[in-house]
Amino acid sequence: MAFFLNTQPNTFGLSINDRSIQLVQFFRSGKQNYTNAKLRTVRGVGLPEGLVSSGEILQPEPVRGFIQKLLTHKKDGQGTITGKWAIASIPEEKSFIKIIHIPKEVGHITTEDVLSEVEHHLPLKSEDYYTDWMPLSTEQTEKGTPVIVAAVEKQTADMYTYLIESVGLGVAALDIESLAVARAMRGSVEPTPSSMLILDIGAHSSTAIICDHKTTQLSHMIARGGDHFTEALSTALHIPKEEAERIKRDKDVGTVHNPAWSTLAAEAQILSTEIKKVVSFYQTHFHNGNTITHIILTGGGASIEPLSTMIEKELHTPVTIGNPWKQLSSTKTITIPKADSLRFSAAVGLGLRAAYNPFSKRSLI
Ligand SMILES: Nc1ncnc2c1ncn2[C@@H]1O[C@H](COP(=O)(O)OP(=O)(O)OP(=O)(O)O)[C@@H](O)[C@H]1O
Ligand SMILES: [Mg+2]
Repeated sequence: MAFFLNTQPNTFGLSINDRSIQLVQFFRSGKQNYTNAKLRTVRGVGLPEGLVSSGEILQPEPVRGFIQKLLTHKKDGQGTITGKWAIASIPEEKSFIKIIHIPKEVGHITTEDVLSEVEHHLPLKSEDYYTDWMPLSTEQTEKGTPVIVAAVEKQTADMYTYLIESVGLGVAALDIESLAVARAMRGSVEPTPSSMLILDIGAHSSTAIICDHKTTQLSHMIARGGDHFTEALSTALHIPKEEAERIKRDKDVGTVHNPAWSTLAAEAQILSTEIKKVVSFYQTHFHNGNTITHIILTGGGASIEPLSTMIEKELHTPVTIGNPWKQLSSTKTITIPKADSLRFSAAVGLGLRAAYNPFSKRSLI
């Protein structure tokens, strides 16, 4: 990773997932403000099953081929990507964020202080992680100065870096996926709620991200995703999975009289119970945590038509479908369908950082 000023304006975001790789690149204007960003390129390629699993790159060689394909794909008129630097995300399964308090003034906190405190919270030994930290405030609470710590498994980070470098790119930074999603979701609700939960609904799992006190406080994986809705429909209606997937994507599925409605409602209830558990964990373990006043849905599963209403009813909390383009002042160049936009939220968050802050001193935050 490089730690110097941005002299590479074509840096882009690259999100490597189990079943897809996505690339998002913005033009930046002079001002250090995302609202001035203009979308330049959005590209995605599907991955066959078994190449990347739970964030682990099992077969680097074919994945490398797919990245190359993405870089040279010319259908969008942008030609081959000329940027030589990428910001990639480390998937939720392999990373970790934590807010800790160090009983010292901000200027006196050392990396050793942070590492010795965070050691109590890591599932593996601290030498198995790359860590990065940043004070969240210059003011101390009674527990000390709040500091956000990001950690990624070294083995995973090295593997992603090696893979990206093997196609001739440099890794400007690795980013934590939930921080990238939260960055893209900024501005989805106006005025910005003081505390909210973002639910990124993927294929097999979802990630709940809690933002409060103007920062991401925690992220937690939930073992339910959009594919559980498909499986439930397939079982309840005795139809093949392909047919169930088609029904799930149908806009008419949102009416009570639709035969799929009760199955989707039952699945939404399971998902809501999991959200409730995360919120309750937050409220019991984060003593100055505010009540969660809003839920934002993103990820491919957020496109299931009646889902937001169903979750809203279950949790008695307003639910909004996110919009990763909302904070941009000019959206004229964006012609991507809403469902696709939601699938690209992590890549958008990476692309925004790539345009504005690619080589920051902090490489993970
Ligand atoms: N238009 C749509 N309507 C309803 N569901 C959709 C739509 N498009 C995609 N999905 C669902 O979204 C899910 C995939 O979401 P997404 O592409 O965000 O997952 P992913 O990021 O690849 O997965 P993961 O985050 O688990 O690695 C699938 O269950 C898919 O069926
Ligand atoms: Mg995802």
